[in-house]
Formats: sequence, structure tokens, C-alpha cells
Amino acid sequence: MDYGFAQRVLQSKQPLIRVIDRYMHEDPENFISFAEGNPGFECMATDKIIEIAKQVITEDTAEVLLYGENSGNFELKDAIRDRWKRVKGIDAPDDDILITTGGQQVLYLSPRLFVNKGDNVLMEEISYAGMIDSVKGFEGNPVGVKVDEDGINIEDLEKKLQTVPNVKYIYLIPTFNNPTGVTLPLEKRKAVYELACKYDKLIIEDDPYSDIRYTGDPVPPIKSLDVEDRVVYIGSFSKTIAAGLRVGFMMAPKAIYEKGVAAKGILDANTPMLNEKICLHFLRDLDFEEELKKLCAGYIPKWKATGDALKKYMPSNWKIAKAEGGLFYFVRTPEGMDEAKMFELELQHNVGLVPSSAFSPDPTHPAGGFRLCFTPDTPERLEEGIKRFAAAAEEYNEKYGLK
Ligand SMILES: Cc1ncc(COP(=O)(O)O)c(C=O)c1O
Repeated sequence: MDYGFAQRVLQSKQPLIRVIDRYMHEDPENFISFAEGNPGFECMATDKIIEIAKQVITEDTAEVLLYGENSGNFELKDAIRDRWKRVKGIDAPDDDILITTGGQQVLYLSPRLFVNKGDNVLMEEISYAGMIDSVKGFEGNPVGVKVDEDGINIEDLEKKLQTVPNVKYIYLIPTFNNPTGVTLPLEKRKAVYELACKYDKLIIEDDPYSDIRYTGDPVPPIKSLDVEDRVVYIGSFSKTIAAGLRVGFMMAPKAIYEKGVAAKGILDANTPMLNEKICLHFLRDLDFEEELKKLCAGYIPKWKATGDALKKYMPSNWKIAKAEGGLFYFVRTPEGMDEAKMFELELQHNVGLVPSSAFSPDPTHPAGGFRLCFTPDTPERLEEGIKRFAAAAEEYNEKYGLK
């Protein structure tokens, strides 16, 4: 039968990550996948999560098993407000916090709230597929802005603000970007904010990774610079407590918050209360900063092994993006490389990194590169996987005469 799919879903298709998953599924012994952006399970505080979950379901049974507050648990909102002010310098007393089912729900809500058919959203030319696909799903156009080694290119951002019509917001992942791993320096954050003020645009700042820092000093979020109520901040506990809990949040000016609450009500009524309360206990009753240190200590050997292996094995015509934290490294393909052909070659070498077309607002013109997530695997397997990827890259150079 002709199912009569709506125009807005006609373009949607399976992400490239599923191709890698299929290889992994067929030969889990021999294939090494760097595809899924999963936390490292063995580094998570699972015992504490189990203990807290038992306590919460026993003591707050009715509260967590009945419908809950649409906008989220109020104590959790207070704990978030307090911690993000103390640690990240976000002081937004007039903003409200909407607890969401993962940060992903805010990525869905953003175009739902702001994008009409044909409207444009500016984002880095290599950005997170969750927002790219969501904008397309609302019949908007994600428009890529050039990126430098240290994040979004300010001149190109201004050019796009001058020339692209109907820009509804600028979407950015300024810290440990997914997929590039890169962190935008403070000066550039200020410049982005100033441009948003100059051209009267909203910024949506997605920040799920900034608490996973291995080296260097924290950089304040753009939201902490906001004096004109033009930054929506997205947070998540997926990378710091547990992705499976699906708890994230949106901190936004009241008018945006109110539209967000109404739209969330249609989606899932409320984020599971049990999960919200687990996050509350983590923030309020444990030493959250200490938990983060332990998590990072578990990831550091993986991050180091990956960085060292990339430096040691990758052919010199590849550029390795600087990642001081987060879950990802990104390697830029050399000039003239056909990323799709390189993708075929890596699969033949039994290794799976995700090509940049999966993160491109316009996948027919990918910026060129591959993302690898290093947290789920062991340092030994990470090194082996990179050796294979480097061997595929060498093969490409020989086969296609690339220098
Ligand atoms: C940049 C970015 N934003 C948002 C999300 C969504 O995270 P979650 O829904 O698990 O909070 C992710 C997940 O990987 C991400 O990388």
C-alpha cells in the first residue's frame, strides 16, 4: 500500500552508524567499532546507581510510579541551578529549567518551537546529527558554517548571518564537540555572542560533554556570558551519570521555557520520575564533582592510548583534531580524499569510524574526516583499531596515488 508518508519524513533514512553496527553484529570477534558514542560502562558508578534506585523506589514509591510533573522534579531543577551556577558560572535567575528526556529531546523541541518550513539554522559544518536531522524533520535547512582547528570560523559565521535569510538560531556544541572533539576558546565564544547580539539571533548551546575534561582549564559556557536572554542551554546526565536514564535539561528564558513545557507535554508527558530522582540524589547527596573525577580517571588511559596511537600510526597527511576531553577524536582527511571510498576501505580492514558526511548539514559536500569514540573499548583494542584504520589510509594513498 502507499503509506502516504508526510513530506517531512521522505528524506529520512538510516544513519551510517547502522552500517558499521551491521559489520560489528556479523563479526563481533574480529571487527572493531568506534561508531557508537557510548560511555564506558565499566567506568560508570553502577553500584551507586543501583543503590540509589532501590532507595528511591522504596521510599518514594507513589511519586515515581505515578505521572509526574510535566516540567520535571522541582528539587532536581534547584540542584541543577545551584550546581551550574557554582561550577559553570551560569547565573540566570529569570530562566526556567525544563527537565527533558535526554538532551536529545531539546534538539527535537528546538526546531519545533522556532522553525517554519524553509527557515534556516546555522551550525558548524561538522555538527551533531541529532540537530541536523531534527531541523530537516521540521522542513528547515541546516546551514553549515566553516570550522577552524579551534571551532567555528567567526568570519564565515558573520558572512552567513549577513547573507542567509530567515536564520532562526545558531546551534553550537562549543565544548568537546561531537564529532570533532574540539573546544571553542573563550575569545571566540565572546565573538559568537557579540554576533548573535548584533544580528539579533538566538543561540542554542548544547553542552553534554564539558564535565568530562582530562586536561587543560574549563572554558565558561556561552550561556554564562548571556546578558540579553538569547542563549538556550542544553545539559545532559547521559555522559556523567548514565545514558540509559535519559535525563537532560533545557535552561531557557521564560517565554521559551513555557512553549517548551507545552511541546514536551505532547511528547511524553514527563521524563520518568525514578530517573530524575536518581539524578537528584547524585547531585544533592553524593559529591558529584568527585564522581566526575573518578569517571575521568577511568577514561584517561583510553584517551591517551587513542591519542598516542593516532600520532604514531596515522599517515602524516591526516590532521588529528585536539580533544582535551569528551568521548571523541576526529581525524581530518587529506585534501583530495574521497571519504566514501575511505569508508569502504576501513570496513575491509575490519574497523568502523564514522565519516563526516554523517555529521554534515549537506551530506553531499562533507567537510572530510572521521569520528571515533574511544570510551567503550580497552586501550589495547583502541590501539589495534587505529592501526587498522591507519593501514586502510595507507592503502588509500597507494591505491589512489594520494600524498
Ligand atoms: C552533541 C550532543 N547533543 C545531544 C546529545 C543527546 O544526548 P542525550 O539525549 O543522551 O542527553 C548527544 C548524544 O550523544 C550529543 O552528542
